[in-house]
Amino acid sequence: MSKPTGVHRLPELIEAAAAVVGAGDLEQVLRSLVAEAKGATGARYAALGVIGEHGVLTEFLHEGLTDEQTARIGALPTGKGVLGTLVRENRTIRLDSIADHPDSYGFPPNHPPMSSFLGVPVAAGGRAFGNLYLTEKDGGFTDDDVMLVEALSRIAGSAVTTARLQERLRSIAVGEDRERIARDLHDSVIQDLFAVGLALQGISERVTDPTAASTIEDSVDRLDAVVESLRAYIFQLRATGDRGQLDDRLQELVSRMGSAYPASVTLEIAVARLPTGHLEDEVVKCVSEALSNALRHSGGADVDVVVDADPDWCRIWVRDNGAGFDPASSTTGMGLANLAARAATVGGRIDVTSRPGEGTTVDVRLPIS
Ligand SMILES: Nc1ncnc2c1ncn2[C@@H]1O[C@H](COP(=O)(O)OP(=O)(O)OP(=O)(O)O)[C@@H](O)[C@H]1O
Ligand SMILES: [Mg+2]
Repeated sequence: MSKPTGVHRLPELIEAAAAVVGAGDLEQVLRSLVAEAKGATGARYAALGVIGEHGVLTEFLHEGLTDEQTARIGALPTGKGVLGTLVRENRTIRLDSIADHPDSYGFPPNHPPMSSFLGVPVAAGGRAFGNLYLTEKDGGFTDDDVMLVEALSRIAGSAVTTARLQERLRSIAVGEDRERIARDLHDSVIQDLFAVGLALQGISERVTDPTAASTIEDSVDRLDAVVESLRAYIFQLRATGDRGQLDDRLQELVSRMGSAYPASVTLEIAVARLPTGHLEDEVVKCVSEALSNALRHSGGADVDVVVDADPDWCRIWVRDNGAGFDPASSTTGMGLANLAARAATVGGRIDVTSRPGEGTTVDVRLPIS
């Protein structure tokens, strides 16, 4: 079978889309997705439209037409015709000839002829609010094109939704609204990213080219990491404000992260007096990183998290019985380095004890001042 040609940039695109959670540039992400859809499928034209709350196009990006052609056409797509149908019905439409579709509306004056068509809704949480579409591919669009463009459009949908929710977050205070937005973010974006992962796995099973297959696997790994960092982000959102003691936050973190992996995770909080304020956040972040590592990297069946404190120190242990690694020679990733840096800024330290084959213990000490 033919290999999907365009998968090589997927990991980067996923990363870029995830960066929208921070201060990433949504338009830039969408632009890359359109370019990727065009390049990967070999279509001559590609475009992405996003419809805002009042049915107006808020983003419209396209590739393939010259500036001159664009200027001569003038009008933006109106969402009548097939483009409207695919958003309304929230389904992919693939045609050998656009004109054959019963909803086809024709083109504005000066528009170049376009015949073969692949249009995919841009959606999140089951609601379509835009479209990613391609036209003019020699020989017509293939099943692989459909899968790949659907994956790209989901990434687009997640990026737009995340950006919108963040915008709303910036304009509201704490409390119930934050809760609701955190839930929205979780329900729409995380579920969608899971779906992208599944779609990619579907593609990878059919790919014979080993480089393409390993790129797809890499993409799936990055998606997992993105989902996890989104979970952590959402968790922090929800934990902002005055609700929740540290033990509630830790319980929730552990069950949330644990439920995404087969390992069994225990949490023991061995103290009556837990740190509060600034240190509370540090504890949550340390547990989150160490636990994420144990779940993602160790392959161990059990992970134990223990939080203990005496009057001077808060102590965190995260132990797994997995594969272990050599802390001295591990260079990938930022997690452990961040953890050490974070502990150091509050006057604490971390020790990682691990040997290949013997599991890993991360021991964090934070001074309670
Ligand atoms: N509990 C563990 N079991 C096995 N290997 C681990 C464990 N913790 C860390 N490692 C190894 O150490 C490496 C570095 O971990 P680190 O947290 O710094 O980065 P990462 O988890 O790969 O990426 P990031 O944290 O930036 O998402 C990991 O890639 C992994 O190979
Ligand atoms: Mg890590």
